[in-house]
Amino acid sequence: MRLLVVSLKGGVGKTTTAIHLAGVLAQRGKTLLVDADPAQGAFEWAARGAGLPFDVVLPEDAKPKKYEYTIFDTRAQPKAKTLDEFTRKADLLIVPCSPSALALETMPRLQTELTGLPYRALLTLAPPPPSKDASRAIQKLTDFNFPHFKTQMRRYAALEKAAMQGCLVSDVRDPRAALAWADALALADELL
Ligand SMILES: Nc1ncnc2c1ncn2[C@@H]1O[C@H](COP(=O)(O)OP(=O)(O)OP(=O)(O)O)[C@@H](O)[C@H]1O
Ligand SMILES: [Mg+2]
Repeated sequence: MRLLVVSLKGGVGKTTTAIHLAGVLAQRGKTLLVDADPAQGAFEWAARGAGLPFDVVLPEDAKPKKYEYTIFDTRAQPKAKTLDEFTRKADLLIVPCSPSALALETMPRLQTELTGLPYRALLTLAPPPPSKDASRAIQKLTDFNFPHFKTQMRRYAALEKAAMQGCLVSDVRDPRAALAWADALALADELL
């Protein structure tokens, strides 16, 4: 299974999602994360720590045929060539989107670019209630007719810690780490 994580807007949680989805899928089968972003956020995440349960490689070293699951992390505002090269190989495009107006605004434009491809939005950085930002964002996606996951990657400081420590959030010492990890587990369940 090949998954591509893609968005026009930067900083919406593509790399965080790609790392954690890979972490969950690695419990089910051999998993590869291809860091197709020249900024190499995922590659550096892996380098900061030691012991992610999946391989992280740059595109030139990727041998997806040897893996049950391959996840491609990409750069924001992907070049048409990148989209073309990777989307054709993907079973599903996952489009992280934060509840910010700027992120939501890009979604109809991306939808046009992805016509005919299998894609689904994932609400990320969703603030906890009583904030209504998450439900408003879901309403927007619904208005756009943008297919989306029921699961949300909620906003937890534990995920920032995981990035800093180069590990999965399940290995972070934080009272809410388990909640953040539960989102990743739910996402994989919904996906498979
Ligand atoms: N669910 C979340 N809760 C809290 N912080 C998050 C969450 N998702 C992402 N972040 C933080 O938001 C920032 C951007 O996340 P990330 O790097 O995953 O986004 P990105 O879409 O890959 O960015 P870029 O477009 O630059 O590659 C990081 O500091 C990350 O730790
Ligand atoms: Mg990134």
